[in-house]
Amino acid sequence: MNTKNMQEQGYGLFAKFLHWGMAIMVIVLIAVGTYMAGLDKTDPSKMQLAGMHKSFGVIFMLFAMVRVIWSRVNQSPKLPNVLATWEKLLSKTVTGSLYLLMLAIPFTGYAMTNLFGYPVSLFGLVELPTMFAKKPELALLAKQAHVIVVYTLIAALFAHIAGALKHRLLDEPEADVLPRMLPIKPRK
Ligand code: HEM
Repeated sequence: MNTKNMQEQGYGLFAKFLHWGMAIMVIVLIAVGTYMAGLDKTDPSKMQLAGMHKSFGVIFMLFAMVRVIWSRVNQSPKLPNVLATWEKLLSKTVTGSLYLLMLAIPFTGYAMTNLFGYPVSLFGLVELPTMFAKKPELALLAKQAHVIVVYTLIAALFAHIAGALKHRLLDEPEADVLPRMLPIKPRK
């Protein structure tokens, strides 16, 4: 597909799958992570939920890596020319932060688990490589980092959604980028 067509048709099927699939995953991972962190250590469902959280978190990390590579290999549609320079800059900063955070969140979760002295496994079936030796004092730091990057992601997501809605609802029709990611009609 040449650049002009790409700009008109929006993102490809695989990019859309990664975008919406990971959007759903991140919401569920945040909800389950917050719920399980609040459970008592003696609660047997805490271990079960943590196992699922870690396994799906690792799958999310793999998707994030594929997504970074995919976005490098395939040219993303360009931002509309009608956008002001500050809007383009802000949009690129928020998108760049989202990519970084999508990698940083599972990485800190993985590091925390190893640093507490546990291996990470995929659904208890495959044990994944241990990246860090046990160091409980660093594990507490990784745990704080895991929470901080999650809150930063939530803030970046709000900015991302607000930008998309502003271009859809308040700006001129040419600024609307939503139909490139969603099966909706462009504004007239
Ligand atoms: C996109 C991926 C992920 C998201 C959005 C996410 C989100 C969260 C959230 C919101 C919490 C609750 C924090 C709190 O309020 O204290 C949490 C806790 C936790 N996460 Fe993740 N997480 C992800 C990936 C991972 C991965 C890959 C691992 C490990 C392999 C992991 C391990 C943990 C552990 C062990 C806790 C519990 C900490 C505690 O005991 O309080 N997470 N996560």
